[in-house]
Amino acid sequence: KSRLPVVAIDGPAGAGKSTVSRLVAQRLGLTYLDTGALYRAVTWAVLRSGVPLADAVGVAEVAASTPVELRWQPDLRVFVAGEDCTDIIRTPEVTQAVSQVAAQPAVRQVLLYIQRQYGQRGGIVVEGRDIGTTVFPTAELKIFLTASVQERAQRRWQELQQQGITGLDVAAIAQAIQKRDAQDSQRQVSPLRQAADAVVIDSDGLDVAGVVAQIVAVWQTRSQFQSQSAAQL
Ligand code: CDP
Ligand code: CDP
Repeated sequence: KSRLPVVAIDGPAGAGKSTVSRLVAQRLGLTYLDTGALYRAVTWAVLRSGVPLADAVGVAEVAASTPVELRWQPDLRVFVAGEDCTDIIRTPEVTQAVSQVAAQPAVRQVLLYIQRQYGQRGGIVVEGRDIGTTVFPTAELKIFLTASVQERAQRRWQELQQQGITGLDVAAIAQAIQKRDAQDSQRQVSPLRQAADAVVIDSDGLDVAGVVAQIVAVWQTRSQFQSQSAAQL
């Protein structure tokens, strides 16, 4: 095999994929790759262009003509046409629009190519919705990270409180999360789906450290097994 290992982490919105993937990458000495950031970056470009979200041809044109780039400096940052958009792609405007843009087959095709380019040599922890099923179906380890809608909404609410953003209630956040999950699961091309060979982690009642420890443990068990069977040959 000519590439380093790939760890794929998929799951619904707010399950803890970004937080956990970043830490797992640190622990295993791998690079963290956030694919949602690419979809958010294209969405930001579409919103800025004034092209209506429902205009499939227009959206496809923006996706094909806007250079979207990730840079590790050393933290992961996202650039759209050379401009650092790391913070602006997290705004509610982008979050509300992203699932509709991500449902466009032309957008997915452009970003599939970019994701595989970044993952060419492996050595990555990749997080998204269709990593284990479509982007890196031969990943050495696939995790499907999930949690109940209530728990995910509660975590988001807490996160916003900590950022000094008040006025949103948990129920409204839960509704927005459910809407995005439905859109992501029901689209035609490459929907949010658990890979058949994924290890499922339900993080209800589990903290970040607990989830990271579980993933690292599965990883260590597997690599031990792999090196043992290699030694037996
Ligand atoms: O972190 P959060 O759960 O808010 O979402 P994200 O990972 O930043 O992804 C934002 C959106 O991008 C998702 O709701 C999906 O619509 C889309 N996405 C996707 O379609 N495929 C991926 N591999 C990653 C994200
Ligand atoms: O990337 P994704 O949308 O799946 O989730 P995230 O952006 O990592 O956000 C998850 C939030 O829940 C963060 O504030 C975490 O600190 C918190 N959290 C978690 O990720 N995992 C747990 N087991 C418990 C809390």
